[in-house]
Amino acid sequence: MTRRGGLAIGTAGLALADTVAAATPLAAAAPLPPAFAGTRQPTPLRFDPAKLDGLSEKLVRSHWENNYQGSVRGLNMIEQRLAAAMADKDFPPVAYSGLKREQLHRSGSVVLHDLYSGGLGGNGQSAGGIKQALTTAFASFEGWEAEFRRTAMSLAGGSGWCVLAWNQHLGTLQNYWCWDHTNSPVTGTPLLVLDMYEHAFQMDYGAAAAKYVDAFMRNVDWEVVEARYLAARK
Ligand SMILES: [Fe+2]
Repeated sequence: MTRRGGLAIGTAGLALADTVAAATPLAAAAPLPPAFAGTRQPTPLRFDPAKLDGLSEKLVRSHWENNYQGSVRGLNMIEQRLAAAMADKDFPPVAYSGLKREQLHRSGSVVLHDLYSGGLGGNGQSAGGIKQALTTAFASFEGWEAEFRRTAMSLAGGSGWCVLAWNQHLGTLQNYWCWDHTNSPVTGTPLLVLDMYEHAFQMDYGAAAAKYVDAFMRNVDWEVVEARYLAARK
């Protein structure tokens, strides 16, 4: 199994696609449609990275500037490569497959990183309807947190995310294991997202992933989680 961090780009399929796409000039001066625009900009951090509890400014900035922005740039590039490929009627399906794989991978990384950083900047104190709902779903709030932490630790250093989600179809709150930016729960709406790739904690905690999870929990903005939950239930 290959472990891939937020900056990982490149598969055999993509390499082939690069070669073909490079020989296929973007035809027109007409602007690309939104699906292929490739003009996405990084979402700014909503908090002062120097003021998180137990997560250093150096780590937070490095994560945002390198891993996250690398994913945004990668997604933009892939969208434009898709447009170029669609303009070439002879573009091989196997090469298009590589581009679509990378589109899925980059999209997952951008969305999950946005939701991860967008849920930080708080004081870690849970409240409101989401706290009550988690208490009901897991018998106690502590029961939810224990399962969330265990799910996170099952991925420590691996290629994955730990996601508290509202499952629209099942009508349940669940903690999901989300592998490689791409394997998300079907009909699950993310409420709280925890990055468990090593790049998210190694600089501060080495291999001590549990201490990173402790720090993450101290910085969760539960007002954001509550807002996501209410939006998901509409
Ligand atoms: Fe990350």
